Amino acid sequence: MRSTPLTLLSVVGARPNFMKLAPLARAAAGRRGIRHVIVHTGQHYDAEMSDTFFAELGIPSPDHNLEVGSGSHAAQTALIMQRFEPVCLGAAPDVVLVYGDVNSTVAAALVAAKLGFRVAHVEAGLRSRDWTMPEEINRVVTDRLADLLFSPSWDAVENLRREGVPPERVHMVGNIMVDTLVALLPRAREAGAARRLGVGDRPFVFVTLHRPNNVDSPATLRELLDTLAELATKLPVLFPVHPRTRARVAELGWTPPLTGSLRLLDPLPYVETLSLVERARLVITDSGGLQEETSYLGVPCLTVRPSTERPVTCSLGTNRLVKAERGVILAAAGEALGNARQEPRPIERWDGRTAERILEVLLGEASYQV
Ligand code: UD1
Repeated sequence: MRSTPLTLLSVVGARPNFMKLAPLARAAAGRRGIRHVIVHTGQHYDAEMSDTFFAELGIPSPDHNLEVGSGSHAAQTALIMQRFEPVCLGAAPDVVLVYGDVNSTVAAALVAAKLGFRVAHVEAGLRSRDWTMPEEINRVVTDRLADLLFSPSWDAVENLRREGVPPERVHMVGNIMVDTLVALLPRAREAGAARRLGVGDRPFVFVTLHRPNNVDSPATLRELLDTLAELATKLPVLFPVHPRTRARVAELGWTPPLTGSLRLLDPLPYVETLSLVERARLVITDSGGLQEETSYLGVPCLTVRPSTERPVTCSLGTNRLVKAERGVILAAAGEALGNARQEPRPIERWDGRTAERILEVLLGEASYQV
């Protein structure tokens, strides 16, 4: 038993980070002997991209908000580093926890490692092998800096082994997003988001798109929007639009045709999103989290990307990669809509207990070494 509390410092910044922090914050609060400091970098700052998630996921208010806001990759990463350094020194943590693959993740890991603090990466080892994705650079660098690597799946463990990461640093703890999903599914089932949006009990398609590769090229974005509009002549298509995408759609001057039922919505809170995803007949996305959530739920998913860092969602889950081309997407959607929904196949340690496993490792109570 430790005589002094174990000080954990979690750094989060962007929407998907919050779903990964929530279960850990809850589990840590339920344990004696842990002090948990939460730092929000402010990478995402709109209420609908940040505050609503803290509120509905029950995450305590951050102890520090670095308020960095948007900027180029260099500007944003540099500002996070500059502002995080004194906060990190002041908190004197035993371990700095970073989550996922956003700019806040790599910036905080770099600061903590250089100050000599232990770094733990939650969601370590995922690789798309697509170096044009900023997230891939963030993943590789963060894993190189981390002392403790918490992996969600065996493919991630294998990637780390091939890269020469010492096996004693790697723990296969499962997928922490699934902890949040499992905890909030009952509330999502009661939320009735589809009814509120006027879809009732009819089948519908749920869409999210925000990757630079899809939305920053006007030609690609136009083709994707036209494809969704065509699909929406057959069944409702609900598309909550990320601020990056909203700006690009406005630049194009594109509006949904009056015929058909393509609905461009504001970003949705977590519970409403989950409520829609669970009821969707098909999901079309480029998000990492949705590939996992649909696999867990057994909802067919088309991921508009050439590769995925989450291959288990294709091999065991319901995910299929598609090109950003009208014909390809419509054919794949037609196929998915024609098939009966499958029972989901379980994926090892995607069971709602990942945060507990991470705490067991941090407290020296158990090991999930590979
Ligand atoms: C970031 C992550 C991405 C993640 C996504 C989830 C990086 C490199 N990218 O992408 O991996 O999948 O978050 O949402 O870290 N904006 C707002 N309000 C906000 C936040 C952003 O309007 O609260 C707008 C700004 O115009 C900003 C743009 O969205 O320039 C992009 O934001 P940024 O955080 O740079 O990247 P995301 O595209 O959100």
